[in-house]
Amino acid sequence: MTTLWLSIRRRPRRSVAAFTACLLVVAFAACGDHPGSTVDPVSGDFGGHIQNLYRAVFWWTIAILALVWTLLAYVLMRFKERPGSPEPKQTRGNLALEVGWTLGAAVIVVAISIPTIQAVFKTQARPTSAALEVEVIGHQWWWEYRYPGEGVVTANELHLPVGRQIHLVLSSADVIHSFWVPRIGGKRDVNPLVRQPEGQDSPRNYLTFTIDEPGVYSGQCAEFCGESHALMRLRVFAESREDFILWVSQMQELAQPDSDSLADRGREVFMRSVCIACHAIAGTNAAGVLGPDLTRVGARTQIGAGMLDTSAENLALWIADPGAVKPGAKMPGTNHPGGGMPATGLSQPDIEAIAAYLWSLK
Ligand code: CUA
Repeated sequence: MTTLWLSIRRRPRRSVAAFTACLLVVAFAACGDHPGSTVDPVSGDFGGHIQNLYRAVFWWTIAILALVWTLLAYVLMRFKERPGSPEPKQTRGNLALEVGWTLGAAVIVVAISIPTIQAVFKTQARPTSAALEVEVIGHQWWWEYRYPGEGVVTANELHLPVGRQIHLVLSSADVIHSFWVPRIGGKRDVNPLVRQPEGQDSPRNYLTFTIDEPGVYSGQCAEFCGESHALMRLRVFAESREDFILWVSQMQELAQPDSDSLADRGREVFMRSVCIACHAIAGTNAAGVLGPDLTRVGARTQIGAGMLDTSAENLALWIADPGAVKPGAKMPGTNHPGGGMPATGLSQPDIEAIAAYLWSLK
C-alpha cells in the first residue's frame, strides 16, 4: 500500500494507468467460463464443505478489515495535526485492550478451526459399504486409476457415477503429487507409500465425497512434482448411473480393433516393439505397468494427461516425440531416450500404424 502510494505521488499518470489496468484484469477474470473455479462448486458434499469454509473465512476477514479500517480512519481524523492544536495525550500500554485483542483473535481462530477440522475428517472418512472405491496413483506426470471392484484400469480421465459415494485411495509411484478438481472440492496430497513393518499397510490419504451433478470437471496436480508439474492434468467425467455402468462394461470387454488394415499392422508393430514394456492393453499381451494403461485409449478425450486432444494425428505426434509435447516426459521418442529407455527408432509409417491402432481402441 505504502509503495503504491509513494509511486502514485512520484508518477501519478503512469501509476493510475497501471492501477486501472490491474482493476480491468481482475474485472475480466470474472467473466466467462470457470472450468477450474473453486468458488463455483458442483453440487455434492465435498465442494459444499469447502465453499462453506471459504464463505465463513471470507466474512470473518471482511469484518476484521472493516473494524481495523474504521478505527484507523477515526484515529487519522481525530488526531490529525492542526495549527495550534496541543499534543494529544500519550498512552503506553493498555492491559484491557491488549487482553481484548489477544482473546478476540484467539476466539476467531478457534471459530475458524472447528469447522475446518470437521471438514477434513468428513472428507477423509471411511466409506459406506455402497461406495465406489478407486485407487488414484500419481506418476510423473500423469494419473493412473484402478477400480478394484470392477477390474478396470485407466489413466487421466476418471469416470465416476453421480449420486453414489466415491472413495478415492491416494498414493504415488514416485514423488508427492496433489489431486485437485477445483469444482468438486479441495486438494489432497498424493504421497509415495512408506515401507512399513511386516503386516502393516503404508498410511494413505483418502477422499470421500458424492457428486450430484453430471458433467466434465477439469483437474490439475497441485503439488510441485518436477518439470511438467503444470502439465499434469486430469478430467473427471461424472455420469449417470446407467452411463457409468455402460462405460465399465465397455472397459471390461476385450478390446477389438477395427479390421482396418493400418490398425491391424499397428497392433502387430505395437506388440513386437518396446511399447509393451511400459503399457498395458486389456485382452492383449501388452501388460506393462510403468506407463498409462492404454485400454480403449481412443475413447479418452485427451492424451498425455491433458496435452493433446485424442486423434490419430496427435497420437502419432506424441509417439514420435513425447518430450516435445510434455517436457521431461519419461516415454522415449523416435530419436530421444526417455525414462531410462533407449530411443525407439520407430519409422514414421510404423508410428502412423501404431497411432491408427490406438485410435481404433474405443
Ligand atoms: Cu504431480 Cu505436480
